[in-house]
Amino acid sequence: MNQGKRVGIVGAGNVGATVAYSLAMLGSCHKIILRDNKIDVAKGKALDMSQAAAAVRSHTVVSVAEDISDLVDCDVVVVTAGSPRLPGMSRDDLLMTNANITKDVIKGIAKYSPNAVVIMVSNPLDAMTYVALKESGFDRSRVIGMAGILDSSRMASFIQEKLGYGGGQIRASVMGGHGDDMVPLPRYSTVAGVPLSDVLSAAEIDEIVDRTRHGGAEIVGYLKTGSAYYAPAKSTAIMVEAILKDTKQIHPCAVYLDGEYGYSDVVSGVPVMLGAKGAEKIIEVTLDDKEKEMFKKSCDSVQTLIDTLNKNNFFEGK
Ligand code: 2OP
Repeated sequence: MNQGKRVGIVGAGNVGATVAYSLAMLGSCHKIILRDNKIDVAKGKALDMSQAAAAVRSHTVVSVAEDISDLVDCDVVVVTAGSPRLPGMSRDDLLMTNANITKDVIKGIAKYSPNAVVIMVSNPLDAMTYVALKESGFDRSRVIGMAGILDSSRMASFIQEKLGYGGGQIRASVMGGHGDDMVPLPRYSTVAGVPLSDVLSAAEIDEIVDRTRHGGAEIVGYLKTGSAYYAPAKSTAIMVEAILKDTKQIHPCAVYLDGEYGYSDVVSGVPVMLGAKGAEKIIEVTLDDKEKEMFKKSCDSVQTLIDTLNKNNFFEGK
């Protein structure tokens, strides 16, 4: 029997559970399998979501993998597992902690769902996507980081707020890594096809760019004990759907660059065409000198994290 489309989600915290809920409501797959160390919490959430799916007449069933070895034959696996930054922890400590968690998880995925497309969500996003790629041994088209859709959505929402109109007609564009050096591109952002510069002043656009760069921190500032999850989860679900439905549509995602934009052996956010095989094509956008400079700064920041992993012999034996 055709067992239908299967999506694994590692980490059933706020982001992972909300990805599962979005997908269950859409009915885009037959089975969603949650994997979390807190097995009972995952079981409770899975039952709750399966019941919500039944309420909307969606055929999706949500279940739990008690062990990573139960995460078998998934078409897509979303990885949200990772530790948040705890008091006294440096950014590098978080990097090493989450790199070790990612390494463990990815080894299991590579073993039990060897044909899956992996979507990384854990932070620091670009470095974790790099770790996942190296540890999986998968083709780079099958290891993709979620950030560009989120950052572009934040920019679109800030544009709408500033304008007071145009909701649903805004196309915002953000490239680069998912950090303070991300590269919002007003030149490639429009409202119903109208360039941003025709409807907003330069100062207003600068304000939107700055707010986009710090969009995640703005929400952490309000939530205090956690970070955003509705927009991160919806952005992830959009990627999962594009892959399951083989839409061949273009979305900004974090991928391993191998010469594109003049960079190699680093992960950064660029427009990619998503289909059943993952990131099937990387699109090279023409950047002006200022945009190229910003993209370089962003790639350099990600490179610094990869250098730290190398200095700690993280990839030893690879
Ligand atoms: C965000 O941007 C924390 O990366 C997460 O909200």
